Amino acid sequence: MIKHNIIFVGCGAIAYRWLDHITKRDDCKILAIVEKNPANAKRYMDKYGIECNVYEDMDEALAKEKGDLLIDLTFVTVHSSVVTKALRAGYDVFGEKPMAFTVDQVNDIMQAVKETGKHYFVMQNRRFIDQVKKIKELLATGICGAPVYLTGEIFVPADMGSIRNDFKYPQLQDNNIHSFDLARYLVDGKPKSVHYHSFRPKGSMYTGDSACDAVFEFDNDLVYSFRGYNGAEACWTSWDNVWRIVCEKGTICWDGEGDVKYQYFDEAGDIYRGKGFHEGVIKKPDVVRDQHDGALEDLFDALETGRKPGTDCTDNIYSIAMVLASVKSADEHRKVEIIVNDTYPYLTLK
Ligand SMILES: NC(=O)c1ccc[n+]([C@@H]2O[C@H](COP(=O)([O-])OP(=O)(O)OC[C@H]3O[C@@H](n4cnc5c(N)ncnc54)[C@H](O)[C@@H]3O)[C@@H](O)[C@H]2O)c1
Repeated sequence: MIKHNIIFVGCGAIAYRWLDHITKRDDCKILAIVEKNPANAKRYMDKYGIECNVYEDMDEALAKEKGDLLIDLTFVTVHSSVVTKALRAGYDVFGEKPMAFTVDQVNDIMQAVKETGKHYFVMQNRRFIDQVKKIKELLATGICGAPVYLTGEIFVPADMGSIRNDFKYPQLQDNNIHSFDLARYLVDGKPKSVHYHSFRPKGSMYTGDSACDAVFEFDNDLVYSFRGYNGAEACWTSWDNVWRIVCEKGTICWDGEGDVKYQYFDEAGDIYRGKGFHEGVIKKPDVVRDQHDGALEDLFDALETGRKPGTDCTDNIYSIAMVLASVKSADEHRKVEIIVNDTYPYLTLK
């Protein structure tokens, strides 16, 4: 039975990950695709056998179609305009990361969500990696104690294509939100501040800064140290980052791809009392599930049951705050504080 009548906005490189899932569901119907470049829409319609209306202008689609769910796969610079229009037209929205490009855009979106009572869920597919779930389960057992220090690294060869290549901070303003959101999720923390040192390594393919060394402070007294370079030559890390979670009594290490390894003591300081540690391995599963599949299953379930998913905009604001505070920190060469409220202005940077 059809429960979701969908307008798709934007059909670029990422659309196949969404369409792979949605075209297999029997509760979804795609009413229309909105694409500034109709050839992109046509390519996907042919690939998936979709029959629907195609528009170049979203206002026309909203005026002519009667749907209930809008999927926003456009560029980060236009997300806020697409999302706020959709919410005000009575649609729930699922959208690709990052939520927005500026603090004002974040505040506009959050205000539209509050005024309309509609849902806006953001795609953060990294949360649905099997090993991430297992690390969270391990932390919840308490055998390693509470996390106190988190490090994450990403060194990848990244020609991201599209308008993203021309951003002032190409890595930060598009992809870093994956790292930041996962950092928050792993250690269950909210960001308080960041000092983000941004730079352009000599020879980088980008004109903007595509590397960084950054330090975030979280509300659970944890420090998250992040560094990376979109443009590293060889010896790459996983796109899902390399992680080290130092806890009160142990440490968990994951290379973002394979097995998770951990060691812990019965009591903090046992090393200095001559005592040994325990160790364990969480094996990478034999079959790795597509991250978007897991995420979309969760979002549709949340919409149908009225549950707030982990990537609801009221949570995701903390992740986009980490990006926008980092931009401000890089621009102003100083530490920036992050303040999130549940009334307007929802996000303030100081
Ligand atoms: N979750 C992930 O792992 C992941 C991976 C890649 C990209 N993304 C995100 O997905 C989004 C899209 O990325 P992409 O790689 O598909 O980009 P892309 O440039 O390939 O595609 C964007 C599409 O949106 C269309 N478009 C732009 N503005 C429009 C508008 N106002 N109305 C209608 N169509 C419009 C463009 O014509 C283009 O076809 C970005 O926010 C990106 O960060 C997420």
